[in-house]
Amino acid sequence: MRCSADVGNAAHECYSNPDHSAIAETVLSVFSKMMATTGCAGFFLSLTLALFLNAAPILLQGQTDSAAGAVIELNRVRSSSALPNGIDVRDGDARMQIVALRDNVVRIRVSRSSELAEDASWAVLKEARQSTVAVIPDNTPNAVGFHTQALTVSINRQTFALTISDRNGTVLQKDVRPTEFHGKSFRVYKSMPLDEHYFGLGDKPGPLDRRGQAFTMWNTDAYAFQESTDPIYKSIPYFMAFRSGRAIGVFLDNTWRTSFDFGKQSSDTYSFGSVSGPLDYYVFYGPTPKQVVETYAWLTGTTPLPPIWALGFQQSRYSYTPQARVLEVANRFRTDHIPADVIYLDIDYQERNRPFTVDRNRFPDFSGMIAELASENFHVVAITDLHIAKYPGHGYAPYDSGLAGDHFVKNPDGSIYSGDVWPGPSVFPDFTRAQTREWWGGLYQEFSKQGVAGFWNDMNEPAVFKTPTKTMPENVVHRIDEPGFIKRSAPHAEIHNMYGMQNSRATFDGLQRLNPDLRPFVLTRASYAGGQRYAATWTGDNSSTWNHLRLATPMLENLGLSGFTLSGADVGGFVGTPQPDLLTKWIEIATFQPIDRDHTEKGSGDQEPWVGGAEPEAIRKRFIEERYRLMPYLYTLAQEASRTGMPIERPLFLEFPDAAGDHHPIDVDPEAAGEFLLGPDILVAAPPYPDRLDTYTVEFPSAKWYDYWTGQVVPKPAPKADRDPNDPPSSTDLVSLTTSIHPEIATLPVFVRAGAILPIAPLTQSTNEIPQGPLTLRVYLGDECSGHLYLDDGKTYAYKTGASLQMDFGCEVNPSGLRIRIGEHKGPYPAWWREIRIEIYGWSPSKRRARLNGGNIEATMDVSPGKVALTIPDNGRGEVLELE
Ligand code: NOJ
Repeated sequence: MRCSADVGNAAHECYSNPDHSAIAETVLSVFSKMMATTGCAGFFLSLTLALFLNAAPILLQGQTDSAAGAVIELNRVRSSSALPNGIDVRDGDARMQIVALRDNVVRIRVSRSSELAEDASWAVLKEARQSTVAVIPDNTPNAVGFHTQALTVSINRQTFALTISDRNGTVLQKDVRPTEFHGKSFRVYKSMPLDEHYFGLGDKPGPLDRRGQAFTMWNTDAYAFQESTDPIYKSIPYFMAFRSGRAIGVFLDNTWRTSFDFGKQSSDTYSFGSVSGPLDYYVFYGPTPKQVVETYAWLTGTTPLPPIWALGFQQSRYSYTPQARVLEVANRFRTDHIPADVIYLDIDYQERNRPFTVDRNRFPDFSGMIAELASENFHVVAITDLHIAKYPGHGYAPYDSGLAGDHFVKNPDGSIYSGDVWPGPSVFPDFTRAQTREWWGGLYQEFSKQGVAGFWNDMNEPAVFKTPTKTMPENVVHRIDEPGFIKRSAPHAEIHNMYGMQNSRATFDGLQRLNPDLRPFVLTRASYAGGQRYAATWTGDNSSTWNHLRLATPMLENLGLSGFTLSGADVGGFVGTPQPDLLTKWIEIATFQPIDRDHTEKGSGDQEPWVGGAEPEAIRKRFIEERYRLMPYLYTLAQEASRTGMPIERPLFLEFPDAAGDHHPIDVDPEAAGEFLLGPDILVAAPPYPDRLDTYTVEFPSAKWYDYWTGQVVPKPAPKADRDPNDPPSSTDLVSLTTSIHPEIATLPVFVRAGAILPIAPLTQSTNEIPQGPLTLRVYLGDECSGHLYLDDGKTYAYKTGASLQMDFGCEVNPSGLRIRIGEHKGPYPAWWREIRIEIYGWSPSKRRARLNGGNIEATMDVSPGKVALTIPDNGRGEVLELE
């Protein structure tokens, strides 16, 4: 351990109490000069100073730390002891403990004192944190460490540098500098190979690959954010590093203000750190990126299976009012036959923006309206912001009951903190207390009884107006009262980043208690790692510009990699009014994204799918209809996500880590920048710059793809005549298939992977309707093919006790023809179809003969170039169809 005079920036972060920060800065500058002259002796003086500076009226645990201001580096192994599941290593008082939770998962906890921080987490599930595997110690003259079946962990005795490798010796992550503590803040530095790429960190704007950029985690109301705005609404301190087809995950479980630098400060180093709180991080190995996604889901949980209506088209604006306008918008969908499932009520349905009230002037028959919408198969999602109007003495129940139950966050002097938001002066529930979350959940009783189907938790960074920080002061006091945590007070600085997550958790849990049979739908703006367990999310206040349409794709992909699969960007853009073509293209692309919600701000022009006339409306309608046809596929993906954490919208490298000859993730190629996958099989090849009219190149991640709209195989491009064999390969030379697209407003290039079997339903106007007609299986011939279908009632938890239906499909080409297997119906949930229409692409029959389960059948085969279709009965027992 080294005690140094280099106090640095981070030190005064420790004195974040605004009342004290000015004194702190002055004292610190004097102090750092003293340190420079007195060396380690100054350290002890710093204890006294730090204690003085932290003597706020309320003393918070974690702030009494006596070493604030001192610099501590872990730079030499002084002692180590093997643990059954890891190792404990010391440098003086400083300590690093590494334990293996699984063969491919290690947890690294570092402390500058001999005490490790409390073992508690808002993000990591207890079962995962408590999981352990036995390790084999590896001690050599140079290093201490251990290995599991998947990983070797080694700490250099001379430098304390931690290296994690796979069992073949390939280095996966390596310290390049000693871990440093500056007072309470810390930073960890890792080597950054030239060919490593970084993904995740939630929906931070900018390119998909985080390389070359630095980010701060501090939940922020970021109205009209732009491509380089940071931070925005969510803090998900987790990323995936991907290099040469191999992926690791790194999760820093720290709710304070954290930061990540991927080579911005130093081109060969990435680093992460925090201003305070525990240095507690997890490193896990794939090798495939999908395994990393699954492990992150194992650590922090998955998005539960949503009600199916959440996957339908959602219409919103700030705000539809009065009641007649809400009904008018909903009716227009039905009269124009544009499918839709959800209509939103933004803040103006409330009386003076007071959460949990209804403005009776504008909404004279609120429950009648909900019932009328329900009869038209519309679900209503109502906003319920967390700020409770400070409105004493008027019978405003959320305020009165919250006050009586002592549920609001407090100032350091013990008074209730109040800040201005939509309702004017407001108070803020302390969601870190289990009892406050329970009280909050109960506030939904009335709306839930009236049939409001879902709830929208906005402004939960928390946003506070009329203050430069846009949020509450960092010394506002929360009271942690949570199973698994030591009961204590905590400054807002510690709680801020997970406040929105606990808000949405309180809503989700409350709705479950009120309606134990129904799956809740909660939409949150702010969250923290693990928040996917409680709510869907959206990317906040984007703008009606082409650039924002472009940004939505990497934002949603990175959210998906960071655990939040159920996510969307405001379709059409929130700030401003989109030109008709922009709205059209946005609706086209969002058709293939997980949450498809059109939303716009107050004062902007209308933005519903019919705006701009019959021609754009017809195009938009065609796309929204396609989403409803794809609903069986989409819902199957949502179910997969709920089991494994696999996102619905995926970057290409997730499915095809080896797509390029040199194993780089092809998503980072400029040609592929607009592309994304919907599940494993559908590739949406939006233009990299959707406003440009130039022809662009689509890079495919494997050799054979079909056009989704026509079923035709994508032809191999002719070799470039002017190609000089001595030129270095361009990115398109490294992939096996490309095609050229001339963009048009009315079309969107979408492709299907060879070998996919897509389940498709007859068109409905909402997910409430039972589809009429056969289930269609679109079979896209590859070397072999497979598909899967999941179905249940779409709203209750009956699936948990088995009330679902699952089917597997497959096909093989053999010398006599094509054999298609349609699996039996697994599970008792009744299918809505009796027949299956099979459409086969990329295969032609020689004899036009079909046999079902060994017997000849009379099915008519429609044969057209590149496509064969026939309809067969499906009795649920499984079928084998042989075609010649
Ligand atoms: C901010 C949200 O981001 C936006 O979507 C909403 O319409 C407004 N608040 C008003 O509630």
